[in-house]
Parts: sequence; C-alpha cells; structure tokens
Amino acid sequence: MAPVNGPVRVLVIGQGYVGLPLAMRAVEAGHDVIGFEIDEARAKRLAAGESFVEDVPSDVLTSALKSGKYAVAADPGGIGAFDVAVITVPTPLREGIPDLSYIESAAAMVAPHLRSGSTVVLESTTYPGTTDELVVPILEHGSNLTAGTDFHVGYSPERIDPGNREWTFTTTPKVVSGIDAASLEAVRGFYDTLVARTVPVSGTREAELAKLLENTFRHVNIALVNELAMFARDLDIDIWEAIDAASSKPFGFLPFTPGPGVGGHCLPIDPSYLSWRVKRSLGRSFRFVELANDVNDHMPDYVVQRLMTALNRRRQALNGSRILLLGLAYKRNTGDARESPALVVADRLVTLGAEVRGADPHVVEAHVDRRVARVEASAEELAEADAVVVLTEHDAFDRDLVARHARYVLDTRRWMAEGPTVEYL
Ligand SMILES: NC(=O)c1ccc[n+]([C@@H]2O[C@H](COP(=O)([O-])OP(=O)(O)OC[C@H]3O[C@@H](n4cnc5c(N)ncnc54)[C@H](O)[C@@H]3O)[C@@H](O)[C@H]2O)c1
Repeated sequence: MAPVNGPVRVLVIGQGYVGLPLAMRAVEAGHDVIGFEIDEARAKRLAAGESFVEDVPSDVLTSALKSGKYAVAADPGGIGAFDVAVITVPTPLREGIPDLSYIESAAAMVAPHLRSGSTVVLESTTYPGTTDELVVPILEHGSNLTAGTDFHVGYSPERIDPGNREWTFTTTPKVVSGIDAASLEAVRGFYDTLVARTVPVSGTREAELAKLLENTFRHVNIALVNELAMFARDLDIDIWEAIDAASSKPFGFLPFTPGPGVGGHCLPIDPSYLSWRVKRSLGRSFRFVELANDVNDHMPDYVVQRLMTALNRRRQALNGSRILLLGLAYKRNTGDARESPALVVADRLVTLGAEVRGADPHVVEAHVDRRVARVEASAEELAEADAVVVLTEHDAFDRDLVARHARYVLDTRRWMAEGPTVEYL
C-alpha cells in the first residue's frame, strides 16, 4: 500500500450530502481541498459558510474556509491541478432507468486536469461496471493518458448515515477498490488518511456491488416487515411486539421496523440500478427487488387507507377533514425530503379532499407541495386536527404534547405509547 504522507491536493466534484462531509474530513486530515459544485446557489451558500447538511455544522464549514485549506468553485475554471479527485454526484433514475449523465459530465470535467500519478475515485452509488466501462474511457479520452499506466482509478462507495452520531464518516469502515493493484494502493492510501479502517476488495465491480447489496438488503427486509405489518393487523397480532421478541435472538436475526414507505436518495433508487443491470446484461428479472419496490411503494396508500378507516369509525370522511402530518423528511432528525413517503401521503390526502398541514422543523419550504400548509406542532394545531399522523419521529417533536392534545394519532413509527387515541401502523 502506498501511504499518503502529508497533505495532498483534493478535488471533490459535487458538494452535496456526500461530497461536503468528505471535503470537511479531508480538510480536517490536513489536505488542501477544492469543492466543485455546479449548482451556483448551493456553491454561494457554502462559500458564505452556510451549511445545508446537518452533519456539517456551519462553524466547521466556516473554519475550513478560513483555514485556507478549503475553497468552493462553481466554475470549471476553478478546477486546478489535483492529486486525488473524488466524484460524488447524483445518480437518479429517469423513468426507471439509471441516469449516469452526472457521472459522465463530472468525469469529462476532471479529465483535462489529469496528470501523471493522479487518482480519480468514484463514490456515487451505481451499478457494477460503471467505473470500468463508463468512467475510465471518458477520463482517457479527455486526458490523452492511459488509466493504470499514467493515472489511477478506483471506486469507493459512501456509507454516510445522516444524523448517526455513533457511525460517522471516520468511524465507519470504507470499502476501497481500484482498476488494478496500483490504483487500489493509491485509493486505499488516500482513504487511510480519512477513516479508521479501509476494506480493500479485488476489483471495482465488487465494490460497486457491495454498496448495492447493502442497500438492497435493507430495502428487501423493510418490505418484509411492511408486508408482515399489514397481515399482522388483519390477524390481530401486534407486529411490533413480535419484532421485539424476535430481536432477542442473539444470532441470525436483524430487526427492521415497518413504516410509511422508504425514501431518500438510496433505498427507492439503488436496488433498481442493480435490477436494471441484471435485466440488461442477463435478460433476467431481479424478483426480490421488484417485489420489495412493490410492497414499499404501496405503504403510503396503506397509511391513507388506515387513516380513512379510523376516521370512518368516528363517522368522519377524509374529504374535508383536517390532517396534521408530523415529519415530512424521509428520515428522523434530518431535513432530507427527497423521495420521502410523507410527501406521497400528503399528495394522496390532498387529492382526496383533506385539509393537509405539515410540521417539520428540518425540511425547508421549497421541497414541499404548496398545497400542504406548513405549521408548527403546537398544542393548538394538534387540538384542531381531526387526525395526526406521525410519519417521521424527529426528536424536536414533543410526544407528551401530542398525547395531551391530539384527538386521534396514527403513529407509523411506534413513537408514542399506544392507547385509546393512538394506533400503530
Ligand atoms: N445522501 C446519502 O445519504 C448517500 C449515502 C451514500 C451514497 N450516496 C450516493 O452518493 C451520490 C451523491 O449523493 P448526494 O446525496 O450527495 O447527492 P446531492 O444531490 O446532495 O449532491 C450532489 C451534488 O453534486 C452536484 N453536481 C452534479 N453534477 C455536478 C458536476 N458535474 N460538477 C459539480 N457538481 C455537480 C449537485 O449540484 C449536487 O449539489 C449518489 O450517487 C448517492 O446515491 C448518498
């Protein structure tokens, strides 16, 4: 392994939820970092020391800027020479098909700046083969250099878990790979300066698949408990107690809990990258992924159906009822509302004629449907609602206040104590 001795020049392409924490950690480790961000508004905010990522406090960003070891660039002209470039750009689906255009343009932007001995690492989540088949040719074409001979290329998936205090960027082991042994050494040497433990694998495809396996594993297991939760209710069995009981098994079982569906940039998307690759290369269906998509996508409708049933018991229709949604982010204690099932629930409720109000201190206005009135979870709002739905159990919400004032609560997260006015999913 080639240890990296002393600071290196790092270029991080994309300053989002993955790129910004990476850039900050690289600064902390003593490297000189340029964060290249194509979204000018985002770049401007960052350059002013304003972080939008919960795990990166604005004062950390400000001191990185002040140290002179971190700068934000929004213009490709700001990309200078580098030793290591890390690509952390989005990998969305467009009508169910992987959209790798961000990776393509990021690689094309990096290519002319490649020098002999530099290293390029892809971190974006993607299907196996992307680094080898897509990134390498673009880098070679744009630089007139040869990967492996002149420069190093690797893949290292990001495992960042927003809001997780125990498993941070530094403490979470990082899988590293390269297109050849020298590339692996270079990639590993760099990440050894950032994280407590690197986990080398033999090729970039294995590293790419490892990331998709992790996320598909979660996706499938969440779908399993979601489907079970729906059956258990009809069978009059407490799914939550069954999960607690099964969790007492010290081996061979991992607990997953039901919820209103999956959201964020990972679970609704990543498994489909894998199933798309399997279909395209082998002509076969990845049935587990398809089934899990089906079950998890249905959960917002199930929430709405449960709410309708609850209102019906009280001789009320959803149409015209005032519904307060607690939590719009896809995940607890984060402001990330991308692909959030809460937004799907809100949309369905509005369509059915409900007066929908949403409380979430973390999610910024722009990400939420304008038909959803943004409110605080105050005693008055809770008391005025015909029903309250707990979708994301942020610590900022006051459980006792909800219990005291809400007439009826559908709690999709087992956040409150169950009782005459509180039902679990
Ligand atoms: N958010 C997570 O928790 C998480 C965890 C693990 C892996 N990932 C993966 O990491 C990748 C990035 O995710 P994210 O959450 O950071 O996305 P993000 O949207 O928060 O950030 C990506 C940033 O890249 C910028 N960008 C796009 N093209 C660019 C270009 N050519 N040059 C410079 N900047 C460019 C975008 O404007 C955006 O700010 C995705 O593949 C995602 O699946 C995300």
